[in-house]
Amino acid sequence: MTQAPILEFRDVAKTFRTARGSVEAIGNISVDVRDGEFLTIVGPSGCGKSTLLNLLVGLEKPSGGTILLEGRPEIDRMKIGYVMQDDNLYPWRTLQQNVEFPLELRGVAPAERTRIARDYLAKVQLAGFESRYPYELSGGMRQRGNIVRALSYSPRVIIMDEPFGPLDAQTRLLLQQQLLDIWSQEKKTVIFITHDLHEAIALGDRVMVLTRRPGSVKAVHDIGLPRPRDIRHIHEHPEFRRLLSTLGDQLEEEIMGTRAKAGVAA
Ligand SMILES: Nc1ncnc2c1ncn2[C@@H]1O[C@H](COP(=O)(O)OP(=O)(O)OP(=O)(O)O)[C@@H](O)[C@H]1O
Ligand SMILES: [Mg+2]
Repeated sequence: MTQAPILEFRDVAKTFRTARGSVEAIGNISVDVRDGEFLTIVGPSGCGKSTLLNLLVGLEKPSGGTILLEGRPEIDRMKIGYVMQDDNLYPWRTLQQNVEFPLELRGVAPAERTRIARDYLAKVQLAGFESRYPYELSGGMRQRGNIVRALSYSPRVIIMDEPFGPLDAQTRLLLQQQLLDIWSQEKKTVIFITHDLHEAIALGDRVMVLTRRPGSVKAVHDIGLPRPRDIRHIHEHPEFRRLLSTLGDQLEEEIMGTRAKAGVAA
């Protein structure tokens, strides 16, 4: 039985036109994302990964191609939870008020949104910090708040742009495990960008490798590792090592290509 994809990127292209000339960020990306799938994306810096997510939520307009959510080109932004590359909690709201914000926008009654936000904060070990403001929290705590804010209103699709990038290794492991646990309970569709190949393999059902800029799809690999996964031990699996080696080679080809091209141009 084949299920219709929840998201379809069809020949998506993006060229930025600026006063100093145009930058071709995305050459051509076509990929289908299945409902409930965890898709990870890796690719060289500057290859158009963040741009792809910005196109999906309508922050930028594609120069070519189409993006469909549930078969429709009119994308309902409210169905997508976006954890952007930088931690972006509102500084004038407490942690609790930050997590409640998208629920407020959706007209959820006050008592209900308080309950939902508290539950989510507890899931990421932030119980007791609800009334703190972002400046009173550590970077890892803010980032956890940022993540549960995107989860709390139960969007169909969650897109995350290097959400654990700035965190220390221990916090990162903890959050990776928490994210997997929440995802397996709630069966959301997740698109997750990372620079870290270990993370891409440990979390994903599939990993998509993008070429250097202008980004296009170099490869898509199925990750056949069993679930549920124990983040701290999954790298011991032979399939993990095989994928790590393949992805490492593919990424290196693209990064070296970038350098070779830059060298010629200089
Ligand atoms: N608003 C913009 N105006 C002009 N150029 C832009 C704009 N946003 C991105 N770009 C350019 O598009 C290209 C892709 O940028 P993007 O941020 O999508 O890369 P990325 O793959 O997310 O990189 P990183 O891994 O470093 O986050 C870059 O060359 C960048 O300079
Ligand atoms: Mg980026």
